Amino acid sequence: MDAPEISIIPKPLHIARGTGELLFSSETPVTLLDGVPELGPEGYRLTVTEAGVVFEAGSPAAVCYAEQTLRQLLPPVALREAGDTGPWPIPRVQIIDTPRFRWRGVLLDVARHFLPKREVLRFLDLMVLHKLNVLHWHLTEDQGWRVEIKRYPKLTEVGSWRRETVGDGEPHGGFYTQDDIREIVAYAAERNITVVPEIDVPGHSTAAIAAYPELGNQDVPSAAEPREVWTLFGIATTVLNVEDSTIEFYKNVMDEICDLFPGEYVCLGGDECPKDEWKASARAQQRKAELGLTTEEELQAWFLHQISAHVAAKGRKLLGWDEILEGELFPGTVVSSWRGTDGAVEAARRGHDTLTSPYNWVYFDYRQSDDEGEPGAPWAAPTSLERAYGFEPVPADMPEEDAGHVIGSEATLWSEYMPSPRIVDYQAFPRLSAFSETVWSGEERDFAEFRGRLVKHLERLDALGVEYRPLDGPLPWQKQPAPRWRSDPHAE
Ligand code: ACM
Repeated sequence: MDAPEISIIPKPLHIARGTGELLFSSETPVTLLDGVPELGPEGYRLTVTEAGVVFEAGSPAAVCYAEQTLRQLLPPVALREAGDTGPWPIPRVQIIDTPRFRWRGVLLDVARHFLPKREVLRFLDLMVLHKLNVLHWHLTEDQGWRVEIKRYPKLTEVGSWRRETVGDGEPHGGFYTQDDIREIVAYAAERNITVVPEIDVPGHSTAAIAAYPELGNQDVPSAAEPREVWTLFGIATTVLNVEDSTIEFYKNVMDEICDLFPGEYVCLGGDECPKDEWKASARAQQRKAELGLTTEEELQAWFLHQISAHVAAKGRKLLGWDEILEGELFPGTVVSSWRGTDGAVEAARRGHDTLTSPYNWVYFDYRQSDDEGEPGAPWAAPTSLERAYGFEPVPADMPEEDAGHVIGSEATLWSEYMPSPRIVDYQAFPRLSAFSETVWSGEERDFAEFRGRLVKHLERLDALGVEYRPLDGPLPWQKQPAPRWRSDPHAE
């Protein structure tokens, strides 16, 4: 058997192929030397000689990435946990590598549709294979609350289940216990992945209000009746009230969240905050006046500021969606720009770090083609693999001196249209393989060359049982019936 071609994804910075090969097995010495400081904290040098493999890697992250690269030098079957143990011929090579961005994230929405723990663990395995290092975990929504909070048990007792989904008559739900969360966070850390929890406020909170109606605007006639966990998709009109007791409630939630998630960042959402209930609520208007505020946007910023200050006092940094730019930003907040990239330009101009996550490039819940039977969210133009690969994380119109504020990007997997783990696989891959290269590798990219490597990479995904979208379109069983819910939630 000849040593295979080298086809690593994401593409390393530099590959120097030698002649000959090494027969690699579990007996082969893998030696760890000092790191290569000029390659940065995540950079590594991997050398395959006739005597063995050498990693020059100065941090756990760098060692992790050298290992991932070595895994991709082995045949796909070697990726399986139990199976063929070799030995296998691998090419003599020296690889020098370091990422372009430090934040290489994926948003996973487990709120619209719950994803069982084993599937989250499996997703983390697939993330590290692609050297992605941030799981932005969207845990709360109108349609479900997914994280156990000991102080407020009804958040999951009531808030984790909905009666049905868009008229299907079938209950849907699930949540993670605090032990589950700790297991997932530890599993991620072993793979150099930080989990950033998102507790989305003050919009996207119907499930919390269903559990604790006193969090809602009960003096507004349309909001006075007890709410149920939302059974539709789109942007709900529900919003948290602005009472001190509600702020206190969320500070207490954040105390438990910060205990569970040791990472540097916590996301408070802040997107798509509907203002109608605040406008209609005499009580909210009274609070606005008492606080000396004049607009609902200022009220939203005030709300976020209260909780941000509490989280920041615990030594954490905040992340929020670009709508938070409508008000004053809490110091140090990182802004994720999803409605295009203007939000990133604006955040950087205001001196804040930013992530780019524009819906029309990296929202991988969207369809991958216009073909009949192509699954996915239909409320925007399709994002093909080639388009995903063409994403440039730094906005073209960002002044050069601000570009350092772009600390990375996130692809998103919103789950209105992802009711099962199999569909998550389909939407995520291979677009996430393409995305990994946009955030890890250099600016110079060639889709045809990537596609060639991807053909080999798909054999790895096959070995891991990933039900990705084939390059020439869905398999018959992957085609979906016409979507059950047709409205464009962003247009409502
Ligand atoms: C978002 O897509 N609402 C962040």
